[in-house]
This record gives sequence, structure tokens and C-alpha cells, in this order.
Amino acid sequence: MNRTIKAILIVAIATITGCYYDSEERLYPVLYNPCSDTTVTFSKTVTTILQPCQGCHSNSNASNSGAGVKLQDYSDVMIVVSNGKLMGSVNHTSTYPMPKGGGKLPDCEIAQLQKWIDAGSPNN
Ligand code: HEC
Repeated sequence: MNRTIKAILIVAIATITGCYYDSEERLYPVLYNPCSDTTVTFSKTVTTILQPCQGCHSNSNASNSGAGVKLQDYSDVMIVVSNGKLMGSVNHTSTYPMPKGGGKLPDCEIAQLQKWIDAGSPNN
């Protein structure tokens, strides 16, 4: 094998393995799974579960597509916890099933929300 071909092969192999790692990281990011929390907290578990709702219910967007319902700050989330609308919406038992236009949240995430509420919905 002449030296030029060897050099091309080495560069090609290095490039392929390099790209392989890059794309694997991008295709399979290590996602945080709120379902595996044993202690359910507002700051991590609840906030992560409500992440897909932020498209409509964030502080900045709530008046437009979220009909004034905000699900970002603890005090705002507590409004829909206290009046029962949060669990009614995610369980699809109330007039307005959420997420609007999307599939139901995974059962384990709904159970984690309920667990947090049963613990007295602490601001932890
Ligand atoms: C595409 C926008 C959109 C998304 C995403 C969305 N909502 Fe809503 N949400 C709305 C709108 C609009 C309303 C007002 C009622 C209606 O028109 O359906 C609403 C109302 C609500 C209400 C009040 C219901 C009531 O009975 O008054 C709650 C609670 C709520 N959403 C929770 C959530 C939760 C939790 C998620 C995520 C799992 C979510 N929403 C995702 C748009 C959205």
C-alpha cells in the first residue's frame, strides 16, 4: 500500500469515528426523567413535567395562546392546583383537556404531579 492511500485511510477512519460519537450524542441525549424521582420537588420534577406546557402557558406567552393561565412560577401553578384545574386538565376529566391539541402526559408524570399535590404541593 503506498503512503498516500495509507494517509487517506487514517484520516477517513478518524473522521468516521469522530462523527459517530458526535451524532450519537445528538441523537441520544441523556434526558432527565422526572418519573424516576423518589422525592418529588417543584423546582425539578413539576417544572420539568410542565415544560411542554410552556409553549402556551409561560409568563411571556400566557396571555396569547394560554388563555391567561400561567404555569411557570410557583404562585401561578398554585392557582390551578387549588381550584383543581391542573389535575382535571392533565387527567382529561375536565372541560379543557391538556396539553391542548396534544397527547396526554405519560401516566407516571401525572402520578408524580399527584404525589407532589398529596405532599401538600411544597415550594421545594
Ligand atoms: C397549544 C397551547 C396549549 C398548550 C400546549 C397547553 N395549553 Fe393549557 N390551555 C390552553 C388554552 C387555550 C386554554 C384555555 C381553554 C381552552 O381554550 O382550551 C388552556 C387552559 C388550561 C387550564 C385551565 C383549564 C380550565 O379548566 O380553566 C389549565 C389548568 C391548563 N391549560 C393546563 C395545561 C397543562 C398542564 C399543559 C401541559 C401539559 C397545557 N395546559 C398545555 C392552551 C394550551
